[in-house]
Amino acid sequence: MMPDERRSRRSHTAEGAAAVRATAHRDADPRLRNPDYLAERFLGPLLWLRACWKPVRPLTVWTIQRLLPGFYRFVVARTKHFDSILLGEVQSGVTQVVILGAGADSRAYRFAAQLTGSTVFELDHPLTSAWKQRRVRKLFGELPAHVRYAGVDFDHESLADALDRAGVDRAKPALFLWEGVTHYLTAAAVDATLAEVATFPARSSIVFDYFYGEAFAEPPVYPDVLKYKAYTAKHGELIVFGIDQDYVPAFVAQRGLRLSSNLAGPELSARYTDGDPRMLAFSPIAHARVPG
Ligand SMILES: C[S@@+](CC[C@H](N)C(=O)[O-])C[C@H]1O[C@@H](n2cnc3c(N)ncnc32)[C@H](O)[C@@H]1O
Repeated sequence: MMPDERRSRRSHTAEGAAAVRATAHRDADPRLRNPDYLAERFLGPLLWLRACWKPVRPLTVWTIQRLLPGFYRFVVARTKHFDSILLGEVQSGVTQVVILGAGADSRAYRFAAQLTGSTVFELDHPLTSAWKQRRVRKLFGELPAHVRYAGVDFDHESLADALDRAGVDRAKPALFLWEGVTHYLTAAAVDATLAEVATFPARSSIVFDYFYGEAFAEPPVYPDVLKYKAYTAKHGELIVFGIDQDYVPAFVAQRGLRLSSNLAGPELSARYTDGDPRMLAFSPIAHARVPG
């Protein structure tokens, strides 16, 4: 499938990421258990069976490891790290949470109690956003009042327009969650997004995972990355963007932000999983703040 065709259908990787979270949610090892207990509710019947039906679960875990080495553990750590930043920022008084490329992100619903008084804005490709809204209606009977949804194609539309359409208040700080998205975008779309976040008031910030630029080197520095590229290309979502390893602080600074943390594989594994080094080696998670 060509990239342009992707725009005529909803994201496959959005449901795929939820399937990985749902599979790990039932992991026997508490250190590898993904906290996203709602992920399985966003799956179609086949993916649900693969993630949740006990007899096939070992094959599912094996298949994830074979197709996307290190991803199972990485997603456990990523969910926990994003959760932790979300809760910390909300506790410190941020009342707007903007989820860019929301897919099946369940935080608005899992943390509904902690988000009392906050608004969550879920932005995604229009077809994926429509799919998400159908699933949420099925789950809860209606769309929750504290969540607003907006369709946007980050490669072709302005984030500023989408934020305005969704009703984001530019005078108030916002936390932006950008999980599992940047590597699919053009460099221009990534630049525009970070520059837009930088226009928000102090105490605003963005957390995002990204691929190292070195993941695109020829010959490959990280041979496993070829499996990721092949898997996502099969589903029409091309991995095209990365930031060179030592360049991240300067990269975000040039776009008006200050790097607050940047956790790579070994640290993520030690902090959030069983410490096993079989963790994605080329995809750290950065948290960057609007200076102030
Ligand atoms: C791997 S999924 C991640 C979904 C969710 N953030 C998660 O972690 O489960 C990638 C998401 O990025 C969105 N996305 C990718 N390219 C996009 C674009 N150009 N415009 C809007 N959304 C895009 C997809 O629709 C999808 O929801």
